[in-house]
Amino acid sequence: MSAAITCFANIKGGVGKTTLVINVAHTLATELGQRVLVVDMDPQINATTALLPFEITQGLREENGSVYQIFTRATGFRGMDRRLFQSVEVKPVPTGKGFDLILGALDLAFLELRLPQAAPPLDFKALGEKLQTAGWLEQYDHILIDTPPTPSFYLIASLKAASHFVIPTRYDHLSVQGVGLLARVYETLRAHQDYAITAQSLGVVITLIQNPAQRAEGLKMLEDVGRGIDLGDDFFKPFDGYLPLCADVGRAQPKHRLIGELPGRGNVKAAQVEMRKITSELSRRLKLSQQAPPSA
Ligand SMILES: Nc1ncnc2c1ncn2[C@@H]1O[C@H](COP(=O)(O)OP(=O)(O)O)[C@@H](O)[C@H]1O
Ligand SMILES: [Mg+2]
Repeated sequence: MSAAITCFANIKGGVGKTTLVINVAHTLATELGQRVLVVDMDPQINATTALLPFEITQGLREENGSVYQIFTRATGFRGMDRRLFQSVEVKPVPTGKGFDLILGALDLAFLELRLPQAAPPLDFKALGEKLQTAGWLEQYDHILIDTPPTPSFYLIASLKAASHFVIPTRYDHLSVQGVGLLARVYETLRAHQDYAITAQSLGVVITLIQNPAQRAEGLKMLEDVGRGIDLGDDFFKPFDGYLPLCADVGRAQPKHRLIGELPGRGNVKAAQVEMRKITSELSRRLKLSQQAPPSA
């Protein structure tokens, strides 16, 4: 069966998109025996540097390429890393954590800045086409895409490539507003014949909360934001699993350690339990959505 392509998106930063992508990938791989590929589509390259030491990723790009080469083979752009100009076949890199990664590239920012007359236009379909033609759909069960927080070219390319998306949000007003903004962008992209995206929402994961009252607060705000938007029930459907706020999770990041790799005590234990819940819910929702035609 062909890999499900799921991107994690919210038009807001700091809501746990990257944390969920890499930890769901890890849980799918180590607990559910799934073959997983993560694609780092955010020019902030947080998924890449959370998984591998920054100094190593520079060299790895020379050999394995990165998302940069998915969008251009043209040479001579003004960028930071001259080695990017070499034409390299893009290859998944093992993370040593049971799943693979297509490296992110800070130079994606320079692709967006290039002079229009000096380069072929960026094609927002390029990521989807690469995933279809590279053989990765057969090689993996899941492709998870980390996306930037702005309604930008790379977010739209990710939504275009995806079969599904998950929306992480904190319980604060602006993060939940970000879910509403994403809904509006999604509506436009789905309705416009030039974009015609077909990805479906798997629902919303509330993140970085300290107690059940905060989750309830987030859900209430989500209901308010969703009221004016007619995208079917599934778009805003909350996951039962949530990501608890846990200082040890943040502290473990410089050491490239994921939630499932930490000693299971206190808050970390709770985060591990919730990661398993989120991951199995995601698998269940994917299966259901693959069986049923789109509802909206
Ligand atoms: N469970 C957690 N507890 C505490 N801090 C966390 C947790 N998960 C993520 N963080 C921290 O919160 C910040 C935002 O998370 P991140 O996943 O990078 O969000 P986004 O990708 O949406 O910008 C990061 O600095 C990260 O280290
Ligand atoms: Mg991120």
